Amino acid sequence: MSLAHSCARALAHWQRPQLQHACRLQNNLPSNAFSTSSVLPGNRAIVYNTNGDPARVLSAFSFPDLPPPPPNTLNIRLLLAPINPADLNVIEGVYPAKPEPDTSLSQVKDHPLFVGGNEGLGRVIHIGEGVVGLQKGDWVVMSKAQSGTWSSAKNVSPSDVIKVPKQGLSEAQAATITVNPSTAYNMLHDFAQLVEGDWIVQNGANSAVGQAVIQIAAAKGYKTINFIRDREDVESLKKHLESLGATHVVTYDELSDKSLREKVKTWTGGKGIRLGLNCVGGKTTTLMARLLGNNAHLVSYGAMSKEPLSLPTSLFIFKNLTCHGFWQTRWYNGKSIEERQELLETLTTLMRDGKLQGPDHEILTIGGMDSDANASETIRDLVARLGRGMYGKKILLRIEETA
Ligand SMILES: NC(=O)c1ccc[n+]([C@@H]2O[C@H](COP(=O)([O-])OP(=O)(O)OC[C@H]3O[C@@H](n4cnc5c(N)ncnc54)[C@H](OP(=O)(O)O)[C@@H]3O)[C@@H](O)[C@H]2O)c1
Repeated sequence: MSLAHSCARALAHWQRPQLQHACRLQNNLPSNAFSTSSVLPGNRAIVYNTNGDPARVLSAFSFPDLPPPPPNTLNIRLLLAPINPADLNVIEGVYPAKPEPDTSLSQVKDHPLFVGGNEGLGRVIHIGEGVVGLQKGDWVVMSKAQSGTWSSAKNVSPSDVIKVPKQGLSEAQAATITVNPSTAYNMLHDFAQLVEGDWIVQNGANSAVGQAVIQIAAAKGYKTINFIRDREDVESLKKHLESLGATHVVTYDELSDKSLREKVKTWTGGKGIRLGLNCVGGKTTTLMARLLGNNAHLVSYGAMSKEPLSLPTSLFIFKNLTCHGFWQTRWYNGKSIEERQELLETLTTLMRDGKLQGPDHEILTIGGMDSDANASETIRDLVARLGRGMYGKKILLRIEETA
């Protein structure tokens, strides 16, 4: 696809004078350069220039092939990048971590252009002078938060990426390793000193984090009681989670039934449940917290229902409940590069040993032959569906180079 065509399509779609300016600045071309007929290989990113409903503000944006990397930087081809719930919150402008504008795409200061996506898997394609420890063909994941991974290629600093082994890891596992399995692993280790045979409860158990919790817990010999929303094919979802290692899978409707407390006592043999993990909030989390034993810990890391969490005072007085919040970004910010690498190694070992699968996922490919207008429509439809919930699978984006 020609550069002129790429920019013209993006401009037709956006109808924004500043982007016309941005395209010209990026390509360092005069305005009449759009009449060129030369065909250049190019790239594409999913971008936005204002916060708002992702189904309204996201667009596909084509840009030329990357120039050779400047010294001490490298170019990577992004292979897969997930759409996580927090990515949509970032675009909405309601998430505390804010991305920086991508200055290589938009050099107009008053009209920043942001690339969506926080994590993803890249393959090193060109190494700049002075870069050590990385080679062409290596797989890397992002160590920098809000890296703008919904793109076909990027120029990055070596400190923004961490090398991951290719052997024994699928692209989907590597592309999703830095957020959800890391969160699951740390929450299982940082709050309660669990030993084999201990019990955990969690909600949102079919989420990517929930699936990782189930598998890591099973690998450690912890027992899990997992809560999910009811649905038409609930039995097949229960079976799937059990196949990952869930001890019991229960719907929130079943949780609302008083008889569940007795069932839980039978399952645990009266042993107190030590840890609760909450990514939902609202009334069902109150009910889940009531199942916890003495001196338990309740860790909240998400609020998918958008409802506040309310807990009976008696849980604090008589059961000595301790509540925590967990944010993986805060964990990363407080750790050295060696500690981050150690966590990645622990997770990749679990993956290579077949104890931690990637999330149940679907890959959405934005094809190189698609127009920006079509690609924009595809991504907007998708995020609208994700916003309505009950999608059931993690979506991983594969954005091909434009041809
Ligand atoms: N604090 C951190 O560091 C951290 C790190 C990673 C993730 N998170 C949070 O963890 C949560 C899960 O993330 P993920 O990437 O694993 O998600 P995911 O795979 O996209 O799954 C989303 C989950 O949320 C559930 N859900 C959606 N709307 C809901 C509602 N109204 N009521 C109850 N459940 C609802 C879904 O259930 P259905 O299948 O029934 O729709 C599904 O289980 C998100 O809130 C995310 O922001 C936090």
